[in-house]
Amino acid sequence: MSTATFSTLDWGSVDLDQVPNMMTSVPGEKSRSYHKRCTKYFKGLSGQVKLFPVAFESGEGCVLTDVDGNRYIDFSSGIYVTTLGHCHPKISEAIAKHASQLMNAHDFTTPIKTALVEKLAEVLPGDLNGFQFYDSGTTAVEAGLRVLRAATGKNEMISCFYDYHGKTYGGVSLGHIRSPVYGAVRAPGAHMVPRPDTYRPVWSKEDGTIDTDKYITFYDEYINKGTVGNVAGFVLEPIQGWGGSVMPPDDFFPKLRQYCDDKGLLMMIDEVLCSWGRTGKWLCMEHWDVVPDIVTLGKGFGNGFPVTCVAVRDQYKESFESISASSSYGGNPMACAAALASTEVIEEENLLDHAVHLGEVALKRMEQMKAEHKIIGDVRAKGCLMGIELVKDRITKEPFDKAGTLIYQKAFAKGLAWIPAGHILRMSPPIVMDEKTLLKGLDMIDEAIGETARELGMA
Ligand SMILES: Cc1ncc(COP(=O)(O)O)c(C=O)c1O
Repeated sequence: MSTATFSTLDWGSVDLDQVPNMMTSVPGEKSRSYHKRCTKYFKGLSGQVKLFPVAFESGEGCVLTDVDGNRYIDFSSGIYVTTLGHCHPKISEAIAKHASQLMNAHDFTTPIKTALVEKLAEVLPGDLNGFQFYDSGTTAVEAGLRVLRAATGKNEMISCFYDYHGKTYGGVSLGHIRSPVYGAVRAPGAHMVPRPDTYRPVWSKEDGTIDTDKYITFYDEYINKGTVGNVAGFVLEPIQGWGGSVMPPDDFFPKLRQYCDDKGLLMMIDEVLCSWGRTGKWLCMEHWDVVPDIVTLGKGFGNGFPVTCVAVRDQYKESFESISASSSYGGNPMACAAALASTEVIEEENLLDHAVHLGEVALKRMEQMKAEHKIIGDVRAKGCLMGIELVKDRITKEPFDKAGTLIYQKAFAKGLAWIPAGHILRMSPPIVMDEKTLLKGLDMIDEAIGETARELGMA
């Protein structure tokens, strides 16, 4: 029996050869019944749920089970959250221990918080040695923005088209607002500029490759002419997660770091989605050897327990003092235990390397799919952050949203729990997944793409 295991990890009792296992048509009868009862009161569902209203009951490693007993391969990790799979025993035990010992002590020192900050200082690159903890990605981003303002005394900030930084005012102001759903206009001082996307470059060289220097030159011009001269720095995702796993060219962040250093601007990098093993590094920025001044961690940081972090370089540590940094839940013992246990599991299981390996395996398989299906315009993967961009035409690159929705639903019905996103299919399997299960999941997507292309007359 092969279990939901990798390396020394051995907690799964599910036979992965038997997953997916669809016992009913889905969503099944019980799922539909729960969904009806729940949504009478629970409102504001995400597109992920609206398009496939199933009710889940349990998760184990990289397998999810719904209330009708159907088993799915997990290609979404909750929502980029359970990077180490569901209910890893070491993490569950750590949370349970502190849940029965001490639940909250505001921001008083505790032994578990002490152990966590010492561990973070050890694993994070450079002199990222100042920490504060929060309970969601959004609250960490807001605190990071306060540090940015406090450290510089300035209040204009530059982000990029299609970035996402959460749903409160600061985050929304620096993110891609597609509709007035947030009821927001951008905050004064929030600026957006284009960002290098290797598949859809705004500026490219004669040979067609992306021209990073032109982006930096534009930023300089924009800062000189489009701001009031009060710019604190850049606030960016390393890879755009919600934007569709959009990868920057390798020279972007090194060049931006140099530009920031030359101009006295700070670099705040929002790693809520990309950090803690998701791309095969603690910080995604380590792929480019760049140390940000301020960084936010979330999602996989506590592998499902709501714990997030703002980390700053030594010289900005004192800025925490002036931003009234503490919060009700930030750094509570259960949260610290979850983050510390997750960090130790990644180290003990050598999971950073495994995530890199899975990304390479996935990219190879997705390249085959691209060769086969002309509606695939681009494929990309860094560790277990993956994307497939669908187009109506490879020359015009017109986005193919309708295909994206159909492919999402078809693969889900086959037993793949994953994330919908218009014309960009996004995959974030747990980094504890074994290669065989990863390839099985990609085969299911391949089949769904083929069926959809035929249905839409695009095969
Ligand atoms: C880059 C980034 N920043 C911030 C957030 C907001 O995090 P949360 O949903 O935990 O508030 C997200 C959530 O997806 C994110 O991807």
